Amino acid sequence: MAAKRKILATNALPYANGTLHLGHLVGTIQGDMWVRLQKMLGHDCLYICGSDSHGTPIMIQAEKLGMTPEAMIEKIRQEQIKDFADFLVDFDNFHTTHSPENKELVELIFKRQLEKNNIRTRTIKQFYDPVKNMFLPDRYIKGECPKCGAKDQYGDSCEVCGTTYSPTELINPYSVLSGVKPIEKESEHYFFKLENFTEFLKEWTRRGHLQEQVINKLDEWFEAGLKEWDISRDAPYFGFPIPGALNKYFYVWLDAPVGYMASFKNLCEKRKELNFSDYWESEDKTELYHFIGKDIIYFHALFWPAILHGANFRTPSEIVVNGFLTIDGQKMSKSRGTFIKARTYLNHLPPEYLRYYFAAKLSDRIEDLDINFDDFTQRINSDLVGKFVNIASRSASFLNKFFSGKLSSTLSEPELYKQFSEAGNEIADKLNRLEYSQAIRQIMALADKANQYVDEKKPWSLMKEADREKEVQAICTMAVNLFRLLMIYLKPVLPQTAKASEEFLQIKPLQWQDKETPLLDHTIAEFKPLMQRIDPKQIEALKMSTQAELEKPAAATAKPEEVASEKKYINIEDFGKIDLRIAKILEANHVEGADKLLQLKVDVGDGERQIFAGIKSAYQPESLIGKHVIVVANLAPRKMRFGLSEGMVLAAGPGGSELWLVSPDEGAKPGMKVK
Ligand code: MSP
Ligand code: ZN
Repeated sequence: MAAKRKILATNALPYANGTLHLGHLVGTIQGDMWVRLQKMLGHDCLYICGSDSHGTPIMIQAEKLGMTPEAMIEKIRQEQIKDFADFLVDFDNFHTTHSPENKELVELIFKRQLEKNNIRTRTIKQFYDPVKNMFLPDRYIKGECPKCGAKDQYGDSCEVCGTTYSPTELINPYSVLSGVKPIEKESEHYFFKLENFTEFLKEWTRRGHLQEQVINKLDEWFEAGLKEWDISRDAPYFGFPIPGALNKYFYVWLDAPVGYMASFKNLCEKRKELNFSDYWESEDKTELYHFIGKDIIYFHALFWPAILHGANFRTPSEIVVNGFLTIDGQKMSKSRGTFIKARTYLNHLPPEYLRYYFAAKLSDRIEDLDINFDDFTQRINSDLVGKFVNIASRSASFLNKFFSGKLSSTLSEPELYKQFSEAGNEIADKLNRLEYSQAIRQIMALADKANQYVDEKKPWSLMKEADREKEVQAICTMAVNLFRLLMIYLKPVLPQTAKASEEFLQIKPLQWQDKETPLLDHTIAEFKPLMQRIDPKQIEALKMSTQAELEKPAAATAKPEEVASEKKYINIEDFGKIDLRIAKILEANHVEGADKLLQLKVDVGDGERQIFAGIKSAYQPESLIGKHVIVVANLAPRKMRFGLSEGMVLAAGPGGSELWLVSPDEGAKPGMKVK
C-alpha cells in the first residue's frame, strides 16, 4: 500500500444568514465522499468547515429579526451542523469565522502583510446612506441602469442588459435600506497589493493545483492585470476591528478563508495529537484541499494563495471547484418553486439517494449538475434497489432460510471474485481523481454482472432438486461476496447502507483493502431490506412542501413587525389579492397513478382551464359535471407530474371522504368575481 498521507480537506463556509439548500450540498457531499475514500484507503484525512459569520448582510438580517448578530449566527450554525450531519457529511469540525481563533489569525496575517509592505491605505469616495448612517455595499444601492435605463437595478450590474458598472454611475440611485438618495462620502480604506503577487501566482497556478478550466479563467485575469483588493469596511459592520484603526473592520472575505485555519486550530484544541504547524506552516508533511463552488474561484485561486504566501503560511495543494446545481435544467429559483431546502428534502427522501445521484453525475470538470426528478427516481430505483441491493436480498434469503446464515468455506468461482476485486483498484483511482460518474458506471456494470451470475445459476430451481444444497450454498456465498465488494466501493457514497450491511454481514467496518479477502466460513445475520424504492408520491410531496414554504413568508426573512401582524389578521388589500371566481365544471376525469386527484376542466369565464383537485375520495367524476364551484383564479399555475394545474377549487372539511365542494346558490355564472 502507498505511504500514509496526511490530508486536510475543507469545504466553502456557508453564510450564516440563510438556510442551506440543495446547491450547498454539491460541494460538501463531493468533498465528503472523497474524504471517506481517503479514510478507507488508510490515510489520515480530516474534513473541516464552519459558518461564514461576518458582513453587512448578516448584520442587516439580524437587525430585521430583532436579534443580536451573535445569537443569529449561532442559531444558524446549529441548523447547518444538523443539516450536514443528516446528509451524512462527516465534518471533523464545524466552527465559525466569528471566533477567537480566527480573530487572532487574521490579526497575525494582517500584521505580517503590513511588515512586508503588502498593504496600502487610500481615501476613496463611496455611497453613504444619510438616514442609516452607513456606507452602502453595491448590492444595497439600486437605480436605473446607465446603459439601458432599466429600473431597480443593483449597484454593480444590470440584470436586464448585463452591463457592469460602479454604483456611482446609476441614474437616480436610492438606498435599499432606507429608500433615500445616497450621498457620496470619503473614507480611508486598506488595500492588499495583489499585484505584488503576480509572478508568484502565475507560477503557483501552473504547478498543478487547479483544474484546467480554472487555469484558463486565471489566464484571463492575469491578462487584465491583477488589481489591489479593498480589505476594509467602515463601521457599522459585523466583523473584526482592524487593529490601530478607528471604526474600521476587516472585510468579510478577508477573514472567511482564514476561517479554514481557525476551524482547524479549534480542532487542534480538541484533539491534542494534531499539530497546527504541520498543516499550515509546511508543505512537506501534509496536503491541503479546498472544495468550493465556481462562483468563488477568484477568492480562492488568487487572493487566498497570495494572502497565505505573503504571511509565511503554506499554500493549498489543490482547489477543487464544483459547478452549480440546476433543477430541471434551470437555475434554482423561488419563483419557479425549485428552491429546495436541505431540510425539506430530508423530510421526504433519504440522504443517500441524493448522494448517489450526485456521485452518478459528478466529474472533475466544472460542469453544472442538473437534478431531474424523473431521472432521479429512475436511477435510484433501477441502480440501487433493482441492481445493487437485489444481489444481497436474493441470495441472503436462501442462506438465512436453508443454511442458518452460514457461508461456504471456499469460493466456487475465484476468477469472478478476482475480476471484481481487481476492478476495485480502478474504481478507487477514479474516485480519487473525482471522476465519480465513471466510477459509478463501472460499479453498476459489475452489479449487472453479479445479477447475471445468479440468473444463470438459478439457485431457486436447484433448491428443488435432490442433493444440490451444497451448490446452492456456494452460489449464494459467491453472490454475497460480490455484494460485499460492491458495498466497499459504494461505501464513500452510501455510508449508512454500508453500516447496515456490516451489521447484516456481521463484520467490522469495511476498509478498501478488505476487498482482497473473501468472506468465507462465516455466519451472516437475518437480512433486512437495505433500501426502499422511491414512490413518485414522495417526489410530489417534496415539490408541494417546497412550494408551500415559498408561499408562506419565512420567519427568518420577515421583518419583526410582519411576523407580529401575520399572526391573526390579513388586511383588505391582502384579501383583494385573491381572485375568487365562479367556475363551471365541464369535465372530470380520474388521473392515472394518482390516488387523491381528479383532473377537472373548468370554465372560469376566460376560456377553459385544467385544475387538479384532491377530491377523488369524496366525489365520483360523473357527479361533478355541470356543477358550479368557486376557484382561486390567480393562483400561479403549477406544473404537476400529470400536467399543469391552473388554479384551485375550494372545498371544506378534514379531507378523505369528508370533503365538500363550496358551491354558489343557483344563478351564479362562470367568471363572476366572489367578493
Ligand atoms: N461564505 C462564502 C464562502 C466562503 S469560503 C471561505 C459563500 N457562501 S455561500 O453560502 O454562498 O456558498 C457556500 C458554498 O456553496 C460555495 O462553495 C458556493 O459556491 C456553493 N453553492 C451555493 N449555491 C450553489 C449551487 N446552486 N450549486 C452548487 N454550489 C452552490 O460563498
Ligand atoms: Zn441595463
